[in-house]
Amino acid sequence: MRSANALRIVHERTPLLNFSSLNFSRLLRKSCMARLSILRYPDPRLHTIAKPVTAFDERLAKLVADMADTMYTAPGIGLAATQVDVHEQVIVIDVSDTRDQLLVLVNPEIVWASDERQVYDEGCLSVPGIFDGVERPLRVRIKAQDASGKLQEFDAEGLLAVCVQHEMDHLKGKVFVEYLSPLKRNRIKTKLLKEERELKKERQAEAVR
Ligand code: NI
Repeated sequence: MRSANALRIVHERTPLLNFSSLNFSRLLRKSCMARLSILRYPDPRLHTIAKPVTAFDERLAKLVADMADTMYTAPGIGLAATQVDVHEQVIVIDVSDTRDQLLVLVNPEIVWASDERQVYDEGCLSVPGIFDGVERPLRVRIKAQDASGKLQEFDAEGLLAVCVQHEMDHLKGKVFVEYLSPLKRNRIKTKLLKEERELKKERQAEAVR
């Protein structure tokens, strides 16, 4: 997920979670990280349903490290494995201002959601330049494993709740623009396809030079 500046206000009320970040910084130092390329809407691969992770091994650690690197570089506040064309239930999130509160969610589940809802201006690294309001539950309780397989349960609200729900949608093959009206969605699709064609042309021109 990509954040707009307006989101900061809600973030102040979000309890900070330091879930597995200590283990993770050790892991980051050990791995050689790589930036992954992010699929852009309307790439059909974004609609793939992710499978649960069963092996909490070096390969998963490397995927998580690469996803974190990719998210921080973008920069974004959340990234789902689906967006880097890996169809497994893995999410990285960091909604902190200091960018040092990495949250790794493997096989996440929402076990409770509040009736109270909020509308938030969401953005997405797979839908560059587009921000629009999406209504979701204000508070959710999440059960997930970390990169080592340890099970955790926590409550999220505000920006963190938005971000977790947005990223979990990716794992189900859903992009946030699917909450918008068909008219808006088509406009976004047309705009992004046009941008992609222009990028392709630029790259071709560069290759000729
Ligand atoms: Ni997204």
